[in-house]
Amino acid sequence: MSGIFLAGSDDSWEESVRKAFGGTISGELRAWNESSEDDTSKTLGDIRSIEPLVVTVGPALGTESALKLCSEIDESFPEICVVLVSEPGDGVFERALRSGVRDVVSPLADGSEIRETLDRAKDTALKRRSNLSSGTLNTETQSRVIAVVSPKGGAGKTAISTNLAVGLAQQLPGQVVVMDLDVQFGDVGHALRLLPERTLSDVVAQGSRLDATVVKACLTPHPSGLFVLSAPDTPAEADDVSPEQITKIIEILAKDFKYVILDTAAGLDEFTLTAMESATDLLLVCATDVASTRSMRKEIEAFDQIGLTTQRRHFALNRADARVGLEIRDIEGTIGMEVNVAIPSSRNVPLSMNQGTPILESSPRTPVARAYGELVNHFLAPPNDSPTLTTSTEAAVSRFRRKREVR
Ligand SMILES: Nc1ncnc2c1ncn2[C@@H]1O[C@H](COP(=O)(O)OP(=O)(O)OP(=O)(O)O)[C@@H](O)[C@H]1O
Ligand SMILES: [Mg+2]
Repeated sequence: MSGIFLAGSDDSWEESVRKAFGGTISGELRAWNESSEDDTSKTLGDIRSIEPLVVTVGPALGTESALKLCSEIDESFPEICVVLVSEPGDGVFERALRSGVRDVVSPLADGSEIRETLDRAKDTALKRRSNLSSGTLNTETQSRVIAVVSPKGGAGKTAISTNLAVGLAQQLPGQVVVMDLDVQFGDVGHALRLLPERTLSDVVAQGSRLDATVVKACLTPHPSGLFVLSAPDTPAEADDVSPEQITKIIEILAKDFKYVILDTAAGLDEFTLTAMESATDLLLVCATDVASTRSMRKEIEAFDQIGLTTQRRHFALNRADARVGLEIRDIEGTIGMEVNVAIPSSRNVPLSMNQGTPILESSPRTPVARAYGELVNHFLAPPNDSPTLTTSTEAAVSRFRRKREVR
């Protein structure tokens, strides 16, 4: 297996790539420097025999020919990452995404940018290979879509979502994705120390052209084997996101990943309702205080009223050891559900979130990490029923939404 194949390249690009890797490029670098635009089948044949991880296309081809070649490579070799070598502008990036391109890099980019882009593409290609060999990509898996919800802010949803996602990905690398549906103020990226290049905004910017290729290109890989779809960079960008688009994105993710974790904003906003509607499982998170417990009871009553009754429900009690005069039994009685996992208070949690390293990676032996581990095992165990959404549920949720909009 070779490293990088340069298709439709020229001497200057080949030289730039060699320099960027300072002679230490792993795997072989092969280049096809002819600018013949009719030689697609020869290029595909070369790629088949060389088996590179990454193919760069351009800059010696015209934009149309380069994009056509990118599409053909993406369709023939879904495990390979394609990088377009082109100046940005004129909607090139959007068109490139539609052609299955992972990234676009300028032929005049400096060495460190070229190296970073190609290293990132190689990482993604390796993950795609591991997905393909475990048979998860583009196959109809019995996916579990877990919406992590709480009526009150600060209950611990993001801490739980990120640790659950990382814990599942440690067991099933490449098969878990976490989507940040706290669309305005999401902080999943920070909690995992990621600097996403693309976010939900880039997905929805594709409008009616939104499809699996676009969604895949906007995921950020985490070293644990997890993929992340981050929230937009600014709250203003949330205005461009619609619940219909969210439903479509979740459907796409559920086709490619075994576990889709949806971190949500507190309460029942449009996106949280959409997340719950699309979920197979609701993970209800409640802190150990009277106000949170009462709000949780009201939220569960609301689920029943609007017909959100087909999703499996799970209950995580956070800061379960807080000495505030409430026993777990009292809380279970008020909420009407048994606690599935009780997570203790620990200052390691804010520490790890500030550092961007989930507890399951930074302090796996602590009691709080053991509790997150229990939660992971809880969701790894096969469910004994298979909930499906009914039309009446969808209708009830729409009615609830309309009522909220009128208020
Ligand atoms: N078990 C715990 N022990 C101690 N601190 C915790 C625990 N769980 C969460 N925290 C801390 O509480 C704060 C809120 O947690 P988190 O961000 O996960 O909540 P959230 O429900 O996602 O909040 P929001 O509704 O604002 O999105 C964070 O500072 C987090 O580090
Ligand atoms: Mg949060």
